[in-house]
Amino acid sequence: MIEFKNVKKVYPGGQVAAKDINLKFKDGEFICFIGASGSGKTTCMRMINRMNEITSGEILINGVNIKDMDPVDLRRQIGYVIQQIGLLPHMTVYDNIVLVPRLLKWDEDKLRPIAENLIKKVDLPVSYLDKYPSELSGGQQQRIGVIRALAADQDIILMDEPFGALDPITRDALQKLVKRLQREMGKTIVFVSHDMDEALNLADRIVIMGKGKVVQFDTPENILKNPSNDYVKGLLGEEKLNEAKTSYETVDKIMLKNPVSLTSDRSTYDALEMMRRKRVDTIFVVDEENHLLGQVGMFDVQKYGKNIKSLDEVLLKAYAIEENTIIMNAIRDIYNLDIKNLPVVDSENKLVGLVTRATVVDTIYTNLWGQDGDEAKEEEEYEEDNLTQLMHEASGDSNSKIGQGKSHPKKSGEKDD
Ligand SMILES: Nc1ncnc2c1ncn2[C@@H]1O[C@H](COP(=O)(O)OP(=O)(O)O)[C@@H](O)[C@H]1O
Ligand SMILES: [Mg+2]
Repeated sequence: MIEFKNVKKVYPGGQVAAKDINLKFKDGEFICFIGASGSGKTTCMRMINRMNEITSGEILINGVNIKDMDPVDLRRQIGYVIQQIGLLPHMTVYDNIVLVPRLLKWDEDKLRPIAENLIKKVDLPVSYLDKYPSELSGGQQQRIGVIRALAADQDIILMDEPFGALDPITRDALQKLVKRLQREMGKTIVFVSHDMDEALNLADRIVIMGKGKVVQFDTPENILKNPSNDYVKGLLGEEKLNEAKTSYETVDKIMLKNPVSLTSDRSTYDALEMMRRKRVDTIFVVDEENHLLGQVGMFDVQKYGKNIKSLDEVLLKAYAIEENTIIMNAIRDIYNLDIKNLPVVDSENKLVGLVTRATVVDTIYTNLWGQDGDEAKEEEEYEEDNLTQLMHEASGDSNSKIGQGKSHPKKSGEKDD
């Protein structure tokens, strides 16, 4: 519904505040412009309602070039909330809420129902409409400020750092409120912020501005997953990026490849042999096409002794996850199910990897404390799960984050019996 086409803004005096801006916002989207101070966020936002005139290029709203619209008409159709949502103290709450509709000369009869409907949406009694702002708590006043922005029922609302000066708790509450009302009422909101947390919380898509240009335009999730350059990474901060790894990355990034497996026609004797050779205590059982059928554990197989059985007779069910499972969910499974290993399968249930408790411990440490280094590993990894090390060596996967097995030959050899 809002489209920027090669938009450029040069202020008198030659300051290029925005250039090569090409963007398309959908109906009902919550868009945040974010970026360093002076990067052109406010300029871009204010061009939408022609508070700043475009130097070249065009902006279309529902396919109509805003240049062809009367600026006053345009501004009536677009709500605008400037920094700080202050109420006018000498007006009642009611008069504050209906301020803009009244300026737009709406019928007085229509205004009361609008105000009542809106005040209910923020869980305040209708009787408060007749109070003065000073009779309300600070938080209540802020809520009135938010609904005032919605009273004229404009489809598009521009907000320039409206919560910039508020304390974090009030700010958080108002962000939630704005987001809820935006969804309920189907508004398109274009919001300027310098706070990445705010943008990530609110936006359906974020426009990252740098030096007057769009550096990245994508969903919060995609920006966290794939920040386009160091400037974006800097805005996100290391903590957010680490969090994103656990929140969004999938297990195929951390799993060990080629877990030890045998086909189901093999015997318990073969399994024991294989376990001994590969130094693992669990083997996955697959069919000819590598579809995962189950697993056998060392103690389960041992108890058959000389009474050799085929693996398909003795195999146990293996709980598996798909390779596109988010790491955080794999972590939850491993802890909830209290298991050491979680086989990873592809969409056809073919065995493709293994996530171990140690892999996961490593991921948690790295992401919580940003430790990529060896200290954390040396202490934790081998105590937690020797098997990982062994599996890792057996699989010959030198790219895995875990193990660095070749540099610790002693550790893996210790269990030799
Ligand atoms: N009215 C103006 N006249 C001249 N330069 C301006 C004006 N408004 C903004 N600028 C300049 O344009 C650039 C972008 O400003 P702005 O859009 O306000 O950035 P942001 O909102 O990202 O902080 C800055 O370098 C700023 O100094
Ligand atoms: Mg600004």
